[in-house]
Amino acid sequence: MKLSVPFFGGNWKMHHGPSAAGSFFDRFLDLFDPHEDRTVVFFPPAISLAECRAAAAQRTDVDWGVQDVYWEEKGAFTGAISASMAREAGASFVLAGHSERRHVFGDSDEDVARKVLAISGADLVPVLCVGEKLEERERGAVEAVVTRQVNVGLGELSPGSISGIVVAYEPVWAIGTGRTASPADASEVHALIRSRLADLIGADAAQSVPIIYGGSVKTGNIEALLATDDVDGVLVGGASLEPSDFSTICQAGGR
Ligand code: PGA
Repeated sequence: MKLSVPFFGGNWKMHHGPSAAGSFFDRFLDLFDPHEDRTVVFFPPAISLAECRAAAAQRTDVDWGVQDVYWEEKGAFTGAISASMAREAGASFVLAGHSERRHVFGDSDEDVARKVLAISGADLVPVLCVGEKLEERERGAVEAVVTRQVNVGLGELSPGSISGIVVAYEPVWAIGTGRTASPADASEVHALIRSRLADLIGADAAQSVPIIYGGSVKTGNIEALLATDDVDGVLVGGASLEPSDFSTICQAGGR
């Protein structure tokens, strides 16, 4: 599947249960007209996905994802959901390796790789999230950290499957902090990711993998970010919870 870019992801994290999700879409869909030249994907809590899909049933321009899955297909894994269950519930995309999964829940690079493989194997699009912590940036380890996360995270996939993913660069120090990477910082890391992808699948295929930025994206910085080289879209946390902010963000960046 070739995705239209820019790509706008709304990562609701642990916000908006089923009833708040329904009210969100009543308002958002009034504000946001269908656009064919972009991809808009919501990542609600899995328990709200059915309500979201029902509230936006007429809108085939809006797509769906979940925030995490476990790599096993089924079994005694209390609290977990599998990629095939996510697909059955209507998801087309799954985040893998979001920094909160890595740093709050302890997902290792190898765990992320297993999840990416399971997601891709279920015919869903993995959105592999990578990004350095502040301390890693300060000691000059951005390239090493991001390269490792990309290499290990994609280590189980065939080149053909790598062509079907999305990569999100989300510097941990910019998530939920109000600090955004400068366009120059984002551009540098996105170019690094692009060249790593080119090593794995060739330059042409790497060019069509969307590399999106996340970390305190807001209505006030979206245009500058989308105008940045190698930034093919955004993954938005806090500002995706509010219908009017997120509809403004999703209308940005006519190319
Ligand atoms: P934020 O979160 O926009 O609230 O910084 C982004 C993310 O974690 O995906």
